[in-house]
Amino acid sequence: MNKNSSNLPIGVFDSGIGGVTVLKSLIESFPHEKFIYLGDTARLPYGSKSPSTIYNYSEQNIKFLYHQGVKAIVIACNSASSHFTNSFYKEIPIYGVVKPSAYYAVNSTKNNKIGILGTKATVTSQSYVDAIQSVDSKTNHIFQQACPLFVPLAEEGMADDIVTEIIAKRYLESMLKENVDTIILGCTHYPILKPTLKKVGNSVVNWIDTGQSIAKLLISEFNNNKILKNTESNFDKKIKILTTDESQSFKDLASKILARNNLDFQLVNLSF
Ligand code: DGL
Repeated sequence: MNKNSSNLPIGVFDSGIGGVTVLKSLIESFPHEKFIYLGDTARLPYGSKSPSTIYNYSEQNIKFLYHQGVKAIVIACNSASSHFTNSFYKEIPIYGVVKPSAYYAVNSTKNNKIGILGTKATVTSQSYVDAIQSVDSKTNHIFQQACPLFVPLAEEGMADDIVTEIIAKRYLESMLKENVDTIILGCTHYPILKPTLKKVGNSVVNWIDTGQSIAKLLISEFNNNKILKNTESNFDKKIKILTTDESQSFKDLASKILARNNLDFQLVNLSF
């Protein structure tokens, strides 16, 4: 990185709209930083794809963001975080959401019973189970559930709908019977459905939001100078949002989630 690298933005990517919930947590935690968000809307969903496809898409997204000039990259997508392990750009740090969320789940549970909601790709990868057990090998009451219908419900804006409630009851039923006190929302889209999920799982004490977990990790990374703080006192606070497919509903939902109307949307071609 060159000497002005501290003033570069942080790159964030997801398969689509869901990662904007992660971006929101990052903007709130780091108001003095610049961000570039990449939503790979042309190839969404990732959660039903094979590990090698998810890996290749993640690699292309990382290369693209790196060439945009960023000082760090956050893989907001849980499916991508579960499958993308190595970093070929050693000169900038790349963070996934699985490890910090597993850490906060282990540190939040009182009865050692943790539920994980995620896409099929995330659940099958066992990434959260492995990450939880590497934080504390004694935490072995872990209950996973793939929730493939949640992503389209969130995309359709059906956050507070009876249909979502019925499906949530079905998905949460078995982990609630096991008395989990902590549930990881292991997919970028699920925080959008949080009001309904909390209603259905009202006995659950801790809902682990991956955006908040990664923001807490980045606070310590800034404090340890692993990421350099932006030194500009005055900069354009417009957030750059790049997508690989044009979508008005993406723009509307992103503006709503971020509660901003000065977003800078651009359509990009990753040359894949
Ligand atoms: N972003 C994905 C994740 O967090 C959910 C949407 C998708 O399947 O692409 O796993």
